[in-house]
Amino acid sequence: MQKDFQVWQSHWGSQQKNSNLHLKKNNLNKFNLLFFAILFLACSSEVPEISTSGEEIYIARCSACHGKDLEGRVGPSIDANSSAASMPDSYWVQTITKGKGSMPAVRLSDSEVTLVIEYIRSKH
Ligand code: HEC
Repeated sequence: MQKDFQVWQSHWGSQQKNSNLHLKKNNLNKFNLLFFAILFLACSSEVPEISTSGEEIYIARCSACHGKDLEGRVGPSIDANSSAASMPDSYWVQTITKGKGSMPAVRLSDSEVTLVIEYIRSKH
């Protein structure tokens, strides 16, 4: 009787192990599916720059030095009354992408540079 129980237990035990394994594998498959679904969604939205506005770029990349309202901080004022306001776009692009004096170059894509200059001009 005791032996029978042991046999039954080991059988049941191994069955349980197997079914656990089965469950884990199943969960893993579900996880993989979810992962690829998210990956697919992430890759299919291939226009990240459109979701970033000139204002967001300015706040994130310029405002620490030029102030929230272009009033200047570490960097000079670049508001409507500043000399930079009357400078051509090429000067702005050059300053942003190459840096100027103690201003480091800001790494932005061409369209981000255009967006941020458009935003600043809209405040002039
Ligand atoms: C780390 C601080 C810092 C950041 C970030 C920064 N600047 Fe500057 N910026 C400066 C400093 C300092 C100067 C003055 C450089 C000089 O003439 O020596 C300057 C100069 C300028 C000028 C020329 C001003 C003039 O009077 O001719 C423009 C235009 C300008 N920055 C635009 C930007 C824009 C747009 C961004 C964001 C994309 C930006 N800067 C990010 C510090 C910064």
